Amino acid sequence: MSTHPIDNLLPFDSPDFRADPYPYYARARDLAPVYRHPLGMWVLTRYEDVAKLAYDRSLSVEQIDFGPAAPLHDSALGADVPRHTTLRRVLNKWFTPKAVQTWRAHTQRHLDDVLADIVSRGGTFDAVLDLAYPVTFRTVCDLIGIPPLEAIGVRTATYDLGAGLGTNPTEDELAGVVEAMDWFVGHAEHLVTLHTAASPDGLLSSLLAMEATGDLTHEEVVGTLTLIFAVGHLDIGYLIVHGLRLFAEHPEIARAYRDDESVRAAIVEETLRIDTPEQFITRMTTQPVTVGDVDIPAGEILILLISAANKDPEVFPDPDVFDFRRDNSKAKHLAFGGGLHGCAGQVLARAEAEVVFRTITERFDGVRPAGPVTYGHTDFIRSISHLPLTLGTADADPRPL
Ligand code: HEM
Repeated sequence: MSTHPIDNLLPFDSPDFRADPYPYYARARDLAPVYRHPLGMWVLTRYEDVAKLAYDRSLSVEQIDFGPAAPLHDSALGADVPRHTTLRRVLNKWFTPKAVQTWRAHTQRHLDDVLADIVSRGGTFDAVLDLAYPVTFRTVCDLIGIPPLEAIGVRTATYDLGAGLGTNPTEDELAGVVEAMDWFVGHAEHLVTLHTAASPDGLLSSLLAMEATGDLTHEEVVGTLTLIFAVGHLDIGYLIVHGLRLFAEHPEIARAYRDDESVRAAIVEETLRIDTPEQFITRMTTQPVTVGDVDIPAGEILILLISAANKDPEVFPDPDVFDFRRDNSKAKHLAFGGGLHGCAGQVLARAEAEVVFRTITERFDGVRPAGPVTYGHTDFIRSISHLPLTLGTADADPRPL
């Protein structure tokens, strides 16, 4: 690790940091767990502090300046109570364990289609573009109740949005957010005008019915649609890709997944802990807050580094070791955030990952590396851009797709 002056323990922009932020997080946790960053915000790295503040209802997201991503203030992600309560209630019913049973079947169907195509092309594929993205995107389109339109546009816009939501976006990144938000809002509006084509059983029809009764504003319909369109495939795609890379590099973990149902959930949770897709969540203080021996005034931005918390050795001994048998009774990872804004789609995310991991391990005996991995990490998102893999062949007579 290259050295940085004490006044910048967390050089979010540096390529070195982005390639591997974890040694920096560890140093910040040791030297200044409540760190006043040169950029002006407070960055927290200890599990105990991050978990406590994720659940602190005095903190605001509504008062944070989202800049060009301001339309997201009209979704649950950008609203405080009481608006958050309505905007979240609209979403929750789509992600109950019962509802997710339906989406799971959709994921399986899309995966089967994608795998049939991969097999017909010889079994080598890019886990990002050929598998994770189409499967998760098509599933979320089914949930919204629309045909899978504009797949490439959504992917590009989501990535640009994620890149611009970092700690110190460049002019170019901010211009990317403006373009991405214009695209999303324009596209959401377009879908609304085409709503007669939407499935009556989908999220879009339900949002429009609430607009008709005055329970949601038009901006809230567009904001919610934009949010689900954007988040419905991004992080879940990274979870799937991180898991497949793990299976390729450690076939013994793929075999454990295949052979022992009792460890499957733990393998997914450990994947989320060790390679947390969203590195942090952001909040604003509305009143003075004391964390440890540090007093933070009202009106300050907090960067709660959930990814650093997930590697806190006080809570997860040997935190850099992938150990799906570790004792998690003391604390759970924070990859889905927590509290009011804790991820609305986490049941779906786990179900989609389960469908992919089970099918790949049972039907194909896992995957093998087939080329160099490329990364697209920003300070906010931990991502893989390309992961070339080949399907395993132990099953010489794969079950029909
Ligand atoms: C592995 C996959 C996923 C990860 C790691 C993840 C992570 C997160 C995190 C960290 C938050 C908290 C944001 C905050 O507190 O500011 C969040 C919120 C949210 N997530 Fe996810 N997410 C995933 C998948 C999904 C999926 C598949 C959906 C829906 C289709 C979804 C929908 C949402 C929504 C609607 C919120 C906002 C909730 C609120 O503010 O009340 N997520 N997610």
